Amino acid sequence: MRILGIETSCDETGIAIIEANRENKKREFKILSDLVFSQVKIHKKWGGVVPGLAKREHQKILIPLLKQSLENPGLLIKEKTVANKKQMAMIKKILSRDEILLKKIFPFLFFYKKPAIDYIAVTQGPGLEPALWTGINLAKVLSFFWKIPIIPINHIESHIFINFLKTDLKKLKMPAISLVVSGGHTQLILMNKIFNYKIIGDARDDAAGECFDKTGRLLGIDYPAGPIISKLSQKGNSDFFAFPRPMINSPSLDFSFSGLKTAVLYFLKDKKPVFIKKHKKDICAAIQKAIVDVLVSKTLKAAKKYQAKTIILGGGVASNDLLRKEMKKSFAKNFKDARLITTKPKLNTDNGLMVAITAFFRLKYKKDGKNNFKKINAIADLKI
Ligand code: KG4
Ligand code: ZN
Repeated sequence: MRILGIETSCDETGIAIIEANRENKKREFKILSDLVFSQVKIHKKWGGVVPGLAKREHQKILIPLLKQSLENPGLLIKEKTVANKKQMAMIKKILSRDEILLKKIFPFLFFYKKPAIDYIAVTQGPGLEPALWTGINLAKVLSFFWKIPIIPINHIESHIFINFLKTDLKKLKMPAISLVVSGGHTQLILMNKIFNYKIIGDARDDAAGECFDKTGRLLGIDYPAGPIISKLSQKGNSDFFAFPRPMINSPSLDFSFSGLKTAVLYFLKDKKPVFIKKHKKDICAAIQKAIVDVLVSKTLKAAKKYQAKTIILGGGVASNDLLRKEMKKSFAKNFKDARLITTKPKLNTDNGLMVAITAFFRLKYKKDGKNNFKKINAIADLKI
């Protein structure tokens, strides 16, 4: 069984192909390809992701990326194919709002053979609606033309499942708590069994990644500021200034980071540029520490409250070095009962592999996957 995963929820175009692997007990599947094309350079100028531009860029890159993903494992085979009138009409209808993709899809569909793929998994949401639609519409065309079932995937769930590359889900100890921290989300999610989710903590305003990006912008750091703040912080003093840790002592498991952003704004307001320049690394370290302190403290609080046996980190911010270190340290010291699961830092940011893997496990345990492509829509605020 082979699964193609497509991710276009934000500003990374991700395509991956995995293959169920019966021989290897350690890993239930093989990764045949895993490609990500980042649009960061385009959005940088605007200080954040521009949905219309994201839509355009996804349309431009999806087909070249798909071709390369198929080519690597030898699944791209030249063969002329013709479409009948009805098929042409349907393809045009599906891509009626994706002109660029429509132009690119014909030379691909009609010059290559249907590849040996059994399922097409695609991110359905949450995410930027125009961006989500490009991946979904590509998946719809492929599903229709090649007669391959589609599996719509929740983006938050896939940020959790990317951690299970080498995990036997049957052995995962429950309850589990996932902290999903990205540019759009800061959520604590309780799992009493797999595929059973309850959001126990959520962002009341800015997400953690957004806080990194917005405070970074105040310091003149390009979007996305998270990884740059993380790097600069390595040589900074996190005790340089005590920025607020919003809601850290509240019994609620919710998060609020907009106050921290405002505190940074006021801190910088009366400082001279030379001072800011001199202490940029220290300010970064102090901001990062404030965000990480809140995330670690709330996750620990949640783990204790629900007696969690497993803690899972996901989302772009989960690639933050300090967050990973502090989480490990704090749990080893304060709550040894829980096992912390993380994946490689680079797999925490958006990619196609997370989509394919989630589909693999959904197929294995839930037996879903018989979806009609006509019924799949982008859902910008889809909940887990
Ligand atoms: O999951 P993701 O790739 O996209 C969304 O679903 O939003 O997360 C992107 C976010 C950005 O806000 C980015 O600044 C942040 O993750 N990020 C980081 C790091 N790497 C990415 N934040 C802090 N430290 C990092 N190393
Ligand atoms: Zn994401």
